This record gives sequence, C-alpha cells and structure tokens, in this order.
Amino acid sequence: MATKLIAKGAEAEVYKTSAFGTDAILKDRKPKAYRIRELDEGIRSARTRSEAKATSIADSIGVRVPNILFVKRYQLFITYIEGSQMSALMQQGRRISKGLLMQVGKYLGMLHNAGIAHGDFTPANILIDSKGEPWVIDFGLSSISDSIEEKALDLLLMKRSIDRASYAYFIEGYSSKAHACKIVLTRLSEIEKRGRYNERS
Ligand SMILES: Nc1ncnc2c1ncn2[C@@H]1O[C@H](COP(=O)(O)OP(=O)(O)O)[C@@H](O)[C@H]1O
Ligand SMILES: [Mg+2]
Repeated sequence: MATKLIAKGAEAEVYKTSAFGTDAILKDRKPKAYRIRELDEGIRSARTRSEAKATSIADSIGVRVPNILFVKRYQLFITYIEGSQMSALMQQGRRISKGLLMQVGKYLGMLHNAGIAHGDFTPANILIDSKGEPWVIDFGLSSISDSIEEKALDLLLMKRSIDRASYAYFIEGYSSKAHACKIVLTRLSEIEKRGRYNERS
C-alpha cells in the first residue's frame, strides 16, 4: 500500500501506511532547523518514546487507544482507526450524544488517575468510529505527571473547545472517574480567574 500524508502538524508528519498487513499510521517527527541539533534529536526521540509509553499505559487501564505497532527513534507506527475527528463532526453540526461526551470525560479521568496528563485534550484528538465509540489519540505532548495544574489544563482545553452543555456532560463523566476531581476543578477555576486577571492587566 502507498504511504499517504494525511496531516502535517507543528510537531510531526502523519502518514497512512501499512505495517504487519494492517492499515497503520506513521507519525514521523522531522528535524526542526531552528533547534540546536543535539537538542532537537533529544526532543524528537523523547516525545516519540513518551507518546508510545503513555499510549501503552492508556491501553492497559482500559482507555480506547490505537495499538503501538513499533517504535523507531523518531517514528511511531500505530494501528489505523477508521473514524472521524470529534471536532470535524462538531463542525458539520452533528450532535454528539451525552453518552459519548461522558465517555470522553471518563477516559480523561482514568488517564489522570494513572498519572497521565494528555497535554492536548481537544476534540481534534478524539476519533469517533463507525459504532460511535471514542478513541483517544495524540499523546505526543503528554506527561507522566501528578501535577494538578497539568490535569486542570487538560480540562480547560476541552472546556474552550466545546459548548457549555457538552462540557457539562463531559465533566459528569470525568467526575465519575477522577479520584482528584474536586482538587482539579478548583484549580481550573483558579486558572480561569488568573486568566481574567491577566486579560485586564
Ligand atoms: N491511529 C490513527 N488512526 C486514524 N487516524 C489517525 C490516527 N492517528 C492520527 N490520525 C489522524 O491524523 C491526525 C494527526 O495526528 P495526531 O496524532 O493528532 O498528530 P498531530 O496533531 O500532532 O499532528 C489526527 O487528527 C487524525 O485525523
Ligand atoms: Mg493531534
């Protein structure tokens, strides 16, 4: 099968390809000329490894994620998920059900319980398959962290990306799973207050 470029982000080029006889995604972190070479290689390989690691941990705790097929220094091969980005469905005006939004919230709660902050938890990084099930992708900016701040930032990013009613369902799911949900939600309000203060100053 031919390899086809499907996305070119700030961080990586994403191709649809095949590996081990199945459809696969190749995430290739290209060099950044503006970085010192040693530093650039360190960042690219660290992000490749941490994306593989966080994805595997997510899988082991029951969050629906693609499988890691293999990892090279700057390249990740993962199983291809047939589906649409939640963000694309929203842009098309498609209704996202309460159950789906709650499930996405539950997944984030489970990740946080396992000490993973996703780092880019937006509807662009949730794929919805033909059965309407959500898959979490793109752990490239994730960290293994118990930082309340980073967890609150995961919530903030989602809050800014979806409407109020959808966010309420998302938080209902999140709160049903995340052990530290109260502390994280309190921090989120603090960050939002800080933001308002900063905007005024
Ligand atoms: N496993 C996958 N299966 C199907 N599509 C994928 C998969 N991983 C990524 N994609 C598609 O490629 C896009 C970019 O991949 P992503 O991992 O989000 O990288 P980035 O946002 O850093 O460019 C995704 O938004 C999605 O549309
Ligand atoms: Mg992405």
